[in-house]
Amino acid sequence: MIIAMVNAKGGVGKTTCTCNLAHALALKGKRVLVIDNDPQANATSLLLGDQTPGHTLFNLLESSMVGSEPDLFTEGQAPAEGPSVPIESCIYPTLLGLDVIPNSTDSATLEFDLYQNAANYGLLRRITRTYAQANYDFCLIDCPPTLGVWVVMAMVAGDAVIVPVEAGSRMALDGLASVYTAVEKASKKANTELTFLRALINKVDLRTSASKLIVETMRKRFPGKTFETTIPVNTSIQQAEIYRTTVLKHDPQCNGSKRFRALADELITLTDMEHKLKGEVNHGS
Ligand SMILES: Nc1ncnc2c1ncn2[C@@H]1O[C@H](COP(=O)(O)OP(=O)(O)OP(=O)(O)O)[C@@H](O)[C@H]1O
Ligand SMILES: [Mg+2]
Repeated sequence: MIIAMVNAKGGVGKTTCTCNLAHALALKGKRVLVIDNDPQANATSLLLGDQTPGHTLFNLLESSMVGSEPDLFTEGQAPAEGPSVPIESCIYPTLLGLDVIPNSTDSATLEFDLYQNAANYGLLRRITRTYAQANYDFCLIDCPPTLGVWVVMAMVAGDAVIVPVEAGSRMALDGLASVYTAVEKASKKANTELTFLRALINKVDLRTSASKLIVETMRKRFPGKTFETTIPVNTSIQQAEIYRTTVLKHDPQCNGSKRFRALADELITLTDMEHKLKGEVNHGS
């Protein structure tokens, strides 16, 4: 399953949840790929540490994208069929038992061309989907804080969207509603396979009434669309980021690590159920 981690709000924990959930899934024996689809390249530095990757998502996108020149289509030139840079050269194994396609800040320079030509919205899908489906159980796509072109590409490439939201902020609810709408549009217009999987409530501090209120309100407003597992505010998570690793590696016994393992279990159960349901529907039809 290919999952885009999306929220237009910054700093809610998209990268933290992507990397730690990915590590937790890998510890459960799943084959996992993380795609760093954010020009900030935060997931890359967390998962690869000091290692400087040669090829990155930047090279993959740049070598396959359709330019912004208006006559490209009138000249009858179709979008590139496949990546000139092979995807295998951008897959980096990590010490955590999962693979990553890293990014670099150079990617920000591609944004204009990506916007200019709608053929590019399917670029990430064309480059990664078949490979990810053939080689991994889970592929998590870390996204930047926007609903712009990077997220459009991730939604076109993926099967599902997880929305990490920050407990304790009223704006979390508005942010969630706008992703919900974006997923509905993407699934109607560009990718019929896409579903809104779950919101993931992060940075929960049940000692504060604000956190409690947000958790309760989210469960009421989006019934059945929020993971049962929530992620607490946890200093080990912050420390792990400073050491450029996951909390599961930094402090496997802390509460944050336990909750990410529980989240992986919940996700595996959920996806097993969905596969079974799809199988039954296909069998019955
Ligand atoms: N549960 C948590 N407990 C404590 N700190 C956390 C938790 N989740 C995230 N953080 C910290 O919050 C900060 C922002 O997290 P992160 O970078 O994952 O957010 P983001 O949504 O990916 O940000 P951006 O929108 O810039 O990509 C980081 O310093 C991270 O260590
Ligand atoms: Mg991030």
